[in-house]
Amino acid sequence: EFIKDTTVVVFGASGDLAKKKTFPALFGLFREGYLDPSTKIIGYARSDLSLEDLHARIEPHLGKPNGSHDDSKVKQFFQMISYIHGPYDTSEGFDKLKTHIETLEKSSKVTQSHRLFYLALPPSVFLTVATNIKKILYDPNGITRVVVEKPFGHDLASARELQNNLAPLFREEELFRIDHYLGKELVKNLLVLRFGNQFLNASWNKENLQSIQISFKEPFGTEGRGGYFDSIGIIRDVMQNHLLQILTLLAMERPASFDPESIRDEKVKVLKCMAPIDHDDILVGQYTKSKDGSKPAYLDDDTVKPGSKCITFAALGFKIQNERWEGVPIMMRAGKALNEGKVEIRLQYKAVASGVFNNIPNNELVIRVQPDPAVYMKFNAKTPGLSNATQVTDLDLTYSSRYKDFWIPEAYEVLIRDVLLGNHSNFVRDDELDVSWKLFTPLLEYLEGPNAPNPELYPYGARGPDGLIDYLTKHNYVLQSMGNSYTWPITKPE
Ligand code: BG6
Repeated sequence: EFIKDTTVVVFGASGDLAKKKTFPALFGLFREGYLDPSTKIIGYARSDLSLEDLHARIEPHLGKPNGSHDDSKVKQFFQMISYIHGPYDTSEGFDKLKTHIETLEKSSKVTQSHRLFYLALPPSVFLTVATNIKKILYDPNGITRVVVEKPFGHDLASARELQNNLAPLFREEELFRIDHYLGKELVKNLLVLRFGNQFLNASWNKENLQSIQISFKEPFGTEGRGGYFDSIGIIRDVMQNHLLQILTLLAMERPASFDPESIRDEKVKVLKCMAPIDHDDILVGQYTKSKDGSKPAYLDDDTVKPGSKCITFAALGFKIQNERWEGVPIMMRAGKALNEGKVEIRLQYKAVASGVFNNIPNNELVIRVQPDPAVYMKFNAKTPGLSNATQVTDLDLTYSSRYKDFWIPEAYEVLIRDVLLGNHSNFVRDDELDVSWKLFTPLLEYLEGPNAPNPELYPYGARGPDGLIDYLTKHNYVLQSMGNSYTWPITKPE
């Protein structure tokens, strides 16, 4: 589906997000034939850059996932880009921008304008820019789409304030709140896996599942971003948004259809069924130096407040109060500076009845979002041959071996294309954001208030704080050993 003559304005064009995500995603769509060459991309920022400067910043990020670089495509893509610099808080630069957009539209003989404004901006200038877009760049007869990036507020009050300020400027259909986790292939697959497979659909409930876990692990600390992270913490950074989106898709009821509002209605409904997060049902941590001393502690970062209690690891327990989930422990855990980088979902089934089997492992469905996307089910089978012993094995859908010639787009590529098509399914609706802050704000206030627990320290490169294993066990997660390790191996044992 080709959309012609769209104007894409990237605000914050000289910044990190634009350089690493927005421009590369636009390029990826162009390279794969999903962004029409008639599209005009305008970068806007305060820095006085030449077009060549901008190209030089973006170019290193335009490689394909396999590392190769398509020079002729890059050249064509650069021809679609122009750059304007100016302030965010006065009309000066916006007037220039308006003239430029109109000239481009006139030269392509556009009958109805289609303008996409991408705000790759820090929260401090966000509203100012949104206001100027409405005042100066908004075409009441055209199609306007405004893409906004997190943070959408810092807590319930600030999120509501932001929303109250944005609502008079743009209609909800014009706003696209990005949560890039919603663009990841396996997150997008969740509803199909659940509702398109009767065996999963029928067992997706408290009768069959004994624990659910969503985990986010990063092998690096906040290096270089400490100043930003210190006032945010791991919960705001990835849990209130990315992981909650995953949980919502895992737990929601079947939507009437896959249209955006039906999906988002169900998401809001299940969020409203979540009990307040129990302050005693959490585990919080902060990383210290690695055991060998080669990696720094969180507090070694000069941009971090001395003695900061900011948490870089958290495990939280959720309870969903409805017929499907009552009583099922649901955990979310996320940490920086851990032993590996991985995002996965684990649904552990209850044990089969005792009697004929002695200690047979539980089924477990693992959905690995990254790296190396996969869905696999730990599954018992008879050992092949004359033996009647049972053995755990897996039903394995590993994308890299199953789908050899598929292009699996980056999350931002998926989402920008959805914006171009005006599809809101994978964007956060205003009421959804409101309930999510309602759920997390009391917890954040507790963790940042006078009675906050001290984070448990863990060395850079560990699995998390020492209390993690007990925490998992307490939530019905049975650690089942295969070989010497207590977790399922990522790859099949040799
Ligand atoms: C961002 C967080 O939203 O998500 C980062 O601010 C985090 O701290 C990142 O590293 C993770 O995204 P991904 O796509 O690399 O898993």
